[in-house]
Amino acid sequence: MAIPDSFIEELIARSDIVDVVSEYVKLTKRSGANQFGLCPFHSEKTPSFSVSPDKQIYHCFGCGKGGNVIGFIMEIENLSFRDAVEFLARRAHMELPEDGEDKEVRNHRARILELNRLAARWFYDNLSKPAGGAALEYIGKRRLTKKTVTAFGLGAAPDDWYALTNEMRSRGWSDAELIEAGLAKKGRNGGAYDVFRNRLMFPVIDVRGNVVAFSGRILGEGEPKYLNTPDTPVFQKSRNLFALNLAKRSKRDMFILAEGNVDVVMLHQAGFDCAVASLGTSLTAEQARLMRTYKEKVVVAYDSDGAGLKAAQRAIGILEPAGLQVRVLRMEGAKDPDEFIKARGPDAFQALLEQSANHVEYRILTAKAKYDMDTDDGRLGFLREATDILAGNPNRVERELYAGRVAQMTGVSREAVATEVARAARIRAAAEKKRRAHQAARPETAVQPVDRGLRYDNPSSARAEEGVIRLLMADPELAGAVGDLQSSEFTAPFLGRVYDRILERARTHREVGPAVIAAALEPGEAAQLMSILETPQEMSASREALRDYIEKIRAAAMGKKTDEDLAAAFEQLKKKKGNGG
Ligand code: CTP
Ligand code: MN
Repeated sequence: MAIPDSFIEELIARSDIVDVVSEYVKLTKRSGANQFGLCPFHSEKTPSFSVSPDKQIYHCFGCGKGGNVIGFIMEIENLSFRDAVEFLARRAHMELPEDGEDKEVRNHRARILELNRLAARWFYDNLSKPAGGAALEYIGKRRLTKKTVTAFGLGAAPDDWYALTNEMRSRGWSDAELIEAGLAKKGRNGGAYDVFRNRLMFPVIDVRGNVVAFSGRILGEGEPKYLNTPDTPVFQKSRNLFALNLAKRSKRDMFILAEGNVDVVMLHQAGFDCAVASLGTSLTAEQARLMRTYKEKVVVAYDSDGAGLKAAQRAIGILEPAGLQVRVLRMEGAKDPDEFIKARGPDAFQALLEQSANHVEYRILTAKAKYDMDTDDGRLGFLREATDILAGNPNRVERELYAGRVAQMTGVSREAVATEVARAARIRAAAEKKRRAHQAARPETAVQPVDRGLRYDNPSSARAEEGVIRLLMADPELAGAVGDLQSSEFTAPFLGRVYDRILERARTHREVGPAVIAAALEPGEAAQLMSILETPQEMSASREALRDYIEKIRAAAMGKKTDEDLAAAFEQLKKKKGNGG
């Protein structure tokens, strides 16, 4: 599995980060060594995304993302480390070295994909056989056309515990393979049985055209409505979207995000070929980022029942941080897109899209629904909530527009609402400013990594550990001056690993540039390393500084040890007491 370090180094050397990033971001030179552009990972109006040609790294001062060229490709193309390396290798015309284990893993994945492809074909073929009669009837009832069935490769899982398993066994596939693909499960007697029975089958096809999974819908009412393939070696539910393979090619400049596969398929059939669904997981940040790599806009078209509304609100909180512009459809008088289109037709749905409430309006209407607008208390409560929603909106035009609407809804004068909103906005801005100043004044909190999983247990020692790393990377010669400082004395495990890697490379006179060091790190860790390196470091008295840092680390390690010793001593004492008494 492991790709040799030497290959990674050469790949980084041959993939100039400025060239690579420029394919996604318009960079402009400014004074200083770095180039700047608008960050592709969060939405912003002034450039805070910087690329350093010297260090071969990128760093966004806005969202904190950062790393080397491989990390950049992982992030922007939504690829694993391995796939990002492949991606860049193709670009640099380098051949990836393959070791034995590696080939095995690939062959294994290839076999599961092939099994999925054959299963999809078999499900599809069932539709023209008696075993698929019930599913075919259901397709007719939902008014899905033959063309739609073919375009999506829909199929039928027969009402039978062993139909697929037996079929695939006879074609030479093992039970283990069927189980691994998520198509079969192990029964109590050890044999395998079909997971999908008596269901309408939707293949999930990834953006490269592989059948990676299936959703099976019950034929009619019942629970669970959808069964989905669990995570397998070729499928991660949280990183895929149903119908993305088709929707990403749509000429429309947005995605329509629906809940059910039937809704998605019906939307496509009605000409809305940009519809996707999230495969039963509640929407994940990864899915949002995946969407953002193709389009900037999403229209949420969840069911209009209570659960759908709640899910839509949750979705906004996930889609917006990914840099997507979000709008939410309100389908008056229909429970979902499928029902709406059947009742009112595609043109009505198109009109709905065009006049679709942007989410400010949506949130205001949702707030309004909570209050009894016939009472003064109700109207006041709503007014408070609505002005706060508006105050949080950075768009002045929208603020004023909706202030007018809120005025109408509450019967308060327009001016009064506008004044209230402006005041709330000022309070918000002041609070935000205060928060920032506060944070800047407290380095222990400011220093905490953006990635919550990396939070420092001991920020003061971690700051010294960061200092050691910053010094060593600026001047690898200092590796000779660390004495017997061990990574085990570090309080932040990932900084300890970075330390080891730097020492190992520095002592063998290999390069210790940020790009190479970051190659061995998780994305969150790489980002933290980049922000560590962005902090200025006075180099004139570097040996003294190094000594100070080491002292701090030692003191912290000592303190921890003392605590542990004390705790151990207490334990001993307690035991003795227990024995004596
Ligand atoms: N769901 C799921 N797996 C999928 C797709 C959807 O578990 N692959 C879940 C969603 O999380 C949601 C529900 O199923 O809770 C959506 O169902 P719905 O929109 O009601 O599905 P439809 O097939 O459109 O059903 P109906 O015909 O009743 O609208
Ligand atoms: Mn539905």
